[in-house]
Amino acid sequence: MSKTERTFIAVKPDGVQRGLVGEIIRRFENKGYKLVGLKLLKPTVEQAQQHYSDLSSKKFFGGLCEYFSSGPIVGMVWEGLGVVKGGRVLLGATNPADSLPGTIRGDLCIDVGRNVCHGSDAVESAEKEIAFWFPEGVVSYNNHSEGQIY
Ligand code: TYD
Repeated sequence: MSKTERTFIAVKPDGVQRGLVGEIIRRFENKGYKLVGLKLLKPTVEQAQQHYSDLSSKKFFGGLCEYFSSGPIVGMVWEGLGVVKGGRVLLGATNPADSLPGTIRGDLCIDVGRNVCHGSDAVESAEKEIAFWFPEGVVSYNNHSEGQIY
């Protein structure tokens, strides 16, 4: 059975510029995940390099960090049962050429270098990314929909 987890989701600069923030939030809300952190920020190149440090050997790393720091992003923390994997399902495959219709990337973009959103790929990376982007912590509260018996 899934556990309650948290994940870091970001609307990347192209998503913010294209006015997709509300659409992306709506999909996470509609699914039933709980928003516990939300901010608009403009990452520095250094922050982008740190965020994507696992990819530092890739040939697209420089361009990726330049893009990620090119404009404001919306950083979010979402909470819920199995939200790390479930959030990645909502996002769709990394390359929009492979993302299925119905997913955010499958519906809203065409270029892997401008794929509108980021989502943590594992519970451990989610913890690291949340601590990095939300050092002040997130907000804990109860939802009326919580408390079901499984
Ligand atoms: P990655 O961590 O592999 O994917 P995801 O964002 O789905 O976790 O890659 C990080 C970002 O790097 C990806 O969202 C888009 C960019 N990227 C490219 O620009 N070109 C590529 O060939 C790949 C694999 C990723």
